[in-house]
Amino acid sequence: MGKQVTISTYITSCSESETIELGRKIGSLLVPGDRIYLCGDLGTGKTRIAKGLINAATNTPLDEINSPTFTLMNRYQGDPVVYHADLYRIENDDLEEVGIEMVEESQGVLVVEWAEKIALPSEDCLRIDLEHTDDENVRIITLEWNVTSSWSSRLCGRLPSGNQDSASGCKSRTQNYLCYGESLCRS
Ligand SMILES: Nc1ncnc2c1ncn2[C@@H]1O[C@H](COP(=O)(O)OP(=O)(O)OP(=O)(O)O)[C@@H](O)[C@H]1O
Ligand SMILES: [Mg+2]
Repeated sequence: MGKQVTISTYITSCSESETIELGRKIGSLLVPGDRIYLCGDLGTGKTRIAKGLINAATNTPLDEINSPTFTLMNRYQGDPVVYHADLYRIENDDLEEVGIEMVEESQGVLVVEWAEKIALPSEDCLRIDLEHTDDENVRIITLEWNVTSSWSSRLCGRLPSGNQDSASGCKSRTQNYLCYGESLCRS
């Protein structure tokens, strides 16, 4: 397979609510068949961003959206329907248990936490990497997609351009860069 050209943009989130708001922005852009892969260590905010996303896409209240760590996958009725999976406890051989194939057939949107654990189809996915920083309330959130996918036009101009959190002095910002990689979803 040839090299893919990917676009990355990273956002500094200064608080849990900024991460949820970023999720809401992306959630308002979803179309059937989208795949959102959330990657990053324990407690980086994958579930927070998923909450925002599902809330905006399906109108489900934030407090009714919970991590599917034990149920493996939750379904939210909406337009589009959103499925939220968590692969933390899953090994490659158990992937069928989660029911991801069924999502693909039903034209739902698939949101996956711990997506880096398993080689999932990566074409046209939006990959979101979350990282801790030295500040316990600050996360670096990197969005990455294939330059030829519709995410380029959908996200253009819709990400936060930067604002200063007066309490902490943390400055959130968005920065774009192009990169040439083998694949969108490194494992
Ligand atoms: N900027 C931030 N963005 C998101 N969460 C933050 C931020 N700052 C602090 N937090 C806290 O970090 C935690 C993130 O928890 P969350 O369950 O969303 O992480 P997760 O990546 O889904 O973890 P897990 O790997 O266990 O599924 C919450 O307790 C939240 O309050
Ligand atoms: Mg989680």
